[in-house]
Amino acid sequence: MRVLVTGGAGFIGSALVRYLVGEVGAEVLNIDKLTYAGNLESLKPIANAPNHRFLKADICDRASMVEAFETFQPDYVMHLAAESHVDRSITGAADFMQTNIIGSFSLLEAARDYWSRLPEERKQKFRMLHVSTDEVYGSLGDDGLFEETTAYDPSSPYSASKAASDHLATAWHRTYGLPIVISNCSNNYGPFHFPEKLIPLIILNALDGKPLPVYGAGANIRDWLYVEDHAKALWLIVRQGRAGEKYNVGGRNERRNIDVVKRICEILDDLRPAAAPYDRLITFVTDRPGHDARYAIDATKLETELGWKAEQTFDTGIRKTVEWYLSNAWWWKPLREKVYSGQRLGVLKPETASGL
Ligand SMILES: NC(=O)c1ccc[n+]([C@@H]2O[C@H](COP(=O)([O-])OP(=O)(O)OC[C@H]3O[C@@H](n4cnc5c(N)ncnc54)[C@H](O)[C@@H]3O)[C@@H](O)[C@H]2O)c1
Repeated sequence: MRVLVTGGAGFIGSALVRYLVGEVGAEVLNIDKLTYAGNLESLKPIANAPNHRFLKADICDRASMVEAFETFQPDYVMHLAAESHVDRSITGAADFMQTNIIGSFSLLEAARDYWSRLPEERKQKFRMLHVSTDEVYGSLGDDGLFEETTAYDPSSPYSASKAASDHLATAWHRTYGLPIVISNCSNNYGPFHFPEKLIPLIILNALDGKPLPVYGAGANIRDWLYVEDHAKALWLIVRQGRAGEKYNVGGRNERRNIDVVKRICEILDDLRPAAAPYDRLITFVTDRPGHDARYAIDATKLETELGWKAEQTFDTGIRKTVEWYLSNAWWWKPLREKVYSGQRLGVLKPETASGL
């Protein structure tokens, strides 16, 4: 099995590549531009694996993508490359439009060109998975869950760019017959998560004795999924998902942000008691503009049609995650020192609120 993965040096992409190369035994071509979020150190566990090849390239570069398809001859394509941080999209949306929309378009065209020339049997088996987010659905009230049929209603430049790319993927299926499947997943957490995102930021700030920033009143709800459960779901969906269909992915683990932060504090109180209690560091800060109130995924289709089930609950997954950060400073320390040290992102100054 030959699998072309984009964004495989990022958080979810690297979990997927470690799984495909280390456990599944697939041949993987990993294409990544290595933006601030891409990190080859996340692939260290498979550094010497003969079934992993890395190509530093931009998905917007159509000629490189065409050449990669031509030389690698993939059976499956799993497209994860994206700009992924909502806060960064609020203060600088250009890279999100470029990579998430134009880059996805470029990859779709390269895939279509390649797929249309495959012999019939390989053409039938070929699948492309477009990896997306539940944020395309917008915000829920107190009740209800996102289903595959929920109308798109994105709130941030990030989620709007992902929604656009989902529509492109659907159009390439309907118009050209390209066998594409789309997955929409809830918030991930776990090892190798870049320290700008909530869970690693809280763990690392706590270890440094720094304030633990919580947006607004901390009442926003996310539906958390352990990243390795997501990687397994993606591999199942690309092989067994029906072309033209969407599959929601989520672990049925809704939590308020403040409860996530408190749980991390409790685990650290237990594992690193010298500086306890960590919840004294919790600091409420101005809310994110356009902050969606609640996300919650109905994963029934994935569970019943493809037999997937999350293996980690939030309690088991979050403990594993805190333990991982405590034992793997070699990975996050250089990032905290050289790439991102925990400063607030995504704040609009009044004079720039128009985006001009
Ligand atoms: N993190 C989540 O909770 C979550 C949830 C649902 C869906 N998703 C989606 O999953 C995918 C992966 O998310 P993530 O959290 O791993 O993101 P990430 O930011 O950690 O990684 C993205 C990777 O894409 C690479 N990349 C960015 N622009 C590129 C370009 N133009 N060409 C080639 N590579 C490029 C980066 O270098 C990085 O390695 C994204 O498509 C995201 O929208 C993420």
